[in-house]
Amino acid sequence: MSLIVSKIQKKYNQQIAVEDISFEVHPGEVVGFLGPNGAGKSTTLKMIAGILAADAGKITINNVEVGVDKVDAKKFVGYLPESNALYKDLYIKEYLHFLANVHALKNTPARIKEVIELLQLGAMQQKKIGELSKGFQQRVGIAAAILHQPALILLDEPTSGLDPNQLIDIRKLIQQLSQDSMVLFSSHILQEVTAVCQRVLVMHEGKLVANEPIEQLLKPQTNHLYIQFEEDITHLQSSIHQLSIEVIRIDKHLLVVKTAEGKDVKKIVMQFALDMGLNIERLHIEQASLEEIFKLLTH
Ligand SMILES: Nc1ncnc2c1ncn2[C@@H]1O[C@H](COP(=O)(O)OP(=O)(O)O)[C@@H](O)[C@H]1O
Ligand SMILES: [Mg+2]
Repeated sequence: MSLIVSKIQKKYNQQIAVEDISFEVHPGEVVGFLGPNGAGKSTTLKMIAGILAADAGKITINNVEVGVDKVDAKKFVGYLPESNALYKDLYIKEYLHFLANVHALKNTPARIKEVIELLQLGAMQQKKIGELSKGFQQRVGIAAAILHQPALILLDEPTSGLDPNQLIDIRKLIQQLSQDSMVLFSSHILQEVTAVCQRVLVMHEGKLVANEPIEQLLKPQTNHLYIQFEEDITHLQSSIHQLSIEVIRIDKHLLVVKTAEGKDVKKIVMQFALDMGLNIERLHIEQASLEEIFKLLTH
């Protein structure tokens, strides 16, 4: 039961939104789908969900081809759209019953009870969906997506607009969901994805620019080492540039260098300080920002 996306493309009029993208998701995986706004994440998820036709390429779930006019593959997919359009006038149970009919579920009452418990919606049953907070509406959207126990759950920006507590809840929930299903969820925030995923797909301008384990994405060369000296090091610029390190910035007392795999950059800098009789006041590693990682990936 895997998702296989093979060379899919999508154009809106003349604009290419998704260009020749291929990747796979396998059972037990939580995969983060990362990229700035406009990268093509939502378009890709819509094609996987089978609500938007790809111009080219092929998507299969459990060896069944996905298509707008094909019902079979949709049984395997649960999808939370970015907009999360809900029937605001319905109560949670009413809405879930409606969806259970759409899916022709057999064990409807039991399954609805299970989903309401899983998403901790029990206390909200007296309210109409439109009266719920954004966080609870998001949960209703997720409840709707997982009701038919899909093998693949697609969540499009499930954490956007949530407060920090709601955020933690949704993260926990994603982890819980991954016990029974493959999860692919999108975000434009790196930290969001690193918190719950084992693997990350990065999209940029319609292309897939990375598909790797999270440790790989955050590998040392994407991190920066900040060294604050007690002395002004401006006059030592040329000697610093002779060291076998990649210098990002020299600014009075501050030196910023890239950390590198298989090379102890810290040791090199400390030896340099020793040789020059400099005193290090502070030294710390900062993870590269999402923007920096994107830059790195797209070059
Ligand atoms: N319905 C549409 N009609 C025309 N252009 C669209 C439509 N939906 C998205 N786009 C464009 O396609 C590109 C990818 O959008 P989208 O898939 O929504 O990206 P993301 O979800 O990563 O922000 C963007 O440039 C966006 O403006
Ligand atoms: Mg989007």
